[in-house]
Amino acid sequence: MPNRDLHKMRESYEAAKLLETDCHKNPFIQFDAWFQEALNDQLVEPNAMQIATVGKNMQPSIRTVLLKSFDENGFVFFTNYESKKGIEIAENEHVALLFWYREHQRQIRIEGIAQKTAESLNTSYFYERPHDSQLAAYVSQQSQVVKDRPTLDNLFIEQQHLLENKIIPKKENWGGYVITPNLFEFWQGRANRFHDRIQYQKTSDNAWIMERLMP
Ligand SMILES: Cc1cc2nc3c(=O)[nH]c(=O)nc-3n(C[C@H](O)[C@H](O)[C@H](O)COP(=O)(O)O)c2cc1C
Repeated sequence: MPNRDLHKMRESYEAAKLLETDCHKNPFIQFDAWFQEALNDQLVEPNAMQIATVGKNMQPSIRTVLLKSFDENGFVFFTNYESKKGIEIAENEHVALLFWYREHQRQIRIEGIAQKTAESLNTSYFYERPHDSQLAAYVSQQSQVVKDRPTLDNLFIEQQHLLENKIIPKKENWGGYVITPNLFEFWQGRANRFHDRIQYQKTSDNAWIMERLMP
């Protein structure tokens, strides 16, 4: 194992700043503004986000998923309800999301509650996906151990033949979650690690309190 010197790896963040006067009072609109800027600048997969879950064993786990829609009801992604994340969400609905826009020196943190999306939405989105992505979702028991790659490929090929020219059934274990946020944090990197951090916390009467956090 090489003894790498990471101490000197040091990026300076000076691209922009985030002042309270720049921030919209509504964090969803603030999110949309940053998301739109990411789209405008053609950042790679700006809808890729990390979702952290904690099951009943209290061990956090995290992975990347793709945001498929968002509005004031929440942030939606699709997955397998019997995957590791699905099991952990069933045990504990509290989750956290993270977006990192490297080129914009921005990070967005979201905390909230995950709930399954309606089966009607799951079905309509399932059939919007490319045929072979539907097949992959149909075949894969996500997060289960499989012997090796050929075994996995054979499962796909087997079903490809069986389901040729047929509608691929959407299994009940495939669907979405909507994350309803109760906290957002918008982080803009600044010089000397003296970053801007604007947090929005939801109050009991569904208003949002905006506060600056120290870097
Ligand atoms: C860029 C990217 C996008 C991904 N999008 C999804 C997704 O939308 N849904 C999903 O279930 N897994 C997605 N994955 C795979 C997950 O990161 C993960 O491997 C999988 O969901 C199993 O996670 P789990 O075992 O913790 O449940 C994506 C991975 C990457 C790197």
